[in-house]
Amino acid sequence: MSLAKTIAVMVEKGGVGKTTTAVNFSTGLANRGKRVLLIDLDPQGNATNECGIDPTGSSTYDLFKGTFSAAVTKWGFDLIGATQDLASIPLDHSGRYEMLAAQLTDSVRTHYDYIIIDMPPGTLETLPLNGLYAADEVIIPLQAEQHASDGVAGFIDTLWSQNEVLGREVKIAGVLVTMYTASSPECRQIVQEATDAFDDLGIPIFVTKIPRSRIFPNAVRRGHIALVKYKSHKAVKAYQDLADEYLLREVNRP
Ligand SMILES: Nc1ncnc2c1ncn2[C@@H]1O[C@H](COP(=O)(O)OP(=O)(O)O)[C@@H](O)[C@H]1O
Ligand SMILES: [Mg+2]
Repeated sequence: MSLAKTIAVMVEKGGVGKTTTAVNFSTGLANRGKRVLLIDLDPQGNATNECGIDPTGSSTYDLFKGTFSAAVTKWGFDLIGATQDLASIPLDHSGRYEMLAAQLTDSVRTHYDYIIIDMPPGTLETLPLNGLYAADEVIIPLQAEQHASDGVAGFIDTLWSQNEVLGREVKIAGVLVTMYTASSPECRQIVQEATDAFDDLGIPIFVTKIPRSRIFPNAVRRGHIALVKYKSHKAVKAYQDLADEYLLREVNRP
C-alpha cells in the first residue's frame, strides 16, 4: 500500500508565489499521471478561486471537523478548497497542531500519490503549524529580490526549531526561486548569493527557476491555470520542469 507524500508550499512572507507554485506544481505532477490532492490552507482561498471551485460544504474547514470530501477539478487534480471561516477553526487544545494531520489518515492517503498544501503566510500560528505538522516536506519559494534570502534563512531556522518542538522531521524538498528575471544582473547576483549560502548549509535549491512573467497574474484574471492554458509559454513551462525535477530527484533518492 503506497501512501501519499505531503508537500507544503510554505514561507512566512505573502506575495512570493506560494499559491502560484502550489497550483501549477500540482498540475505538473498531474500531467505526469500522478494522483494529486491540493489542500487550500489559506482562508483567503486564492488557490480555490484559481481552480474555479465553490468549496461550500466540502471545504478545508470541514476537513478539520472530520468530513473529508474533495472536489474533482477540471485541471487533473482534486482540491479541498478554503473558505474564510477557516480562519476560525474550532481548536482541539489537546492536539492543537495535529488536527489536520489526524484527518489525513492512511485511507485518505492511499487515494493519492501527493498531497500539496497551499499554506497561508506566517509560521507560528495555528493554521501554518497544522500544515507543517501534516507535511512530510516543504517547498520554500524565494522571490528573487534584495534581502529575500534573509527572510527564507530565518524561516528555515524556525522550521528546524519547530521540527524539535513538534517532534517531526519535516524535510526541505527545496528552495524554489520565483519571479526571476534572468536578464537582470542584480537578480542573477541575488540568486547566486542565495544559492551559495544555502549550498553551504546543505539546503537544496531547485535548478529550475520560475521566471517573472505577467502571464501568471493574467492567467488568474482569466480564470485559467497557467500550466494548463499556456503550457508552452517559457515562464509557465518552468512549473512542468519543476515537477519533473522533483520527480526525478525522488527516483534517484537513496
Ligand atoms: N513568476 C511570477 N511572475 C510574475 N507574477 C507572479 C509570479 N508568480 C506569482 N505571481 C503573481 O504574484 C502575486 C502573488 O503570488 P501568489 O502565488 O498569490 O503568492 P502567495 O501565495 O505567496 O501570496 C499574484 O498576483 C501572482 O499572480
Ligand atoms: Mg497564497
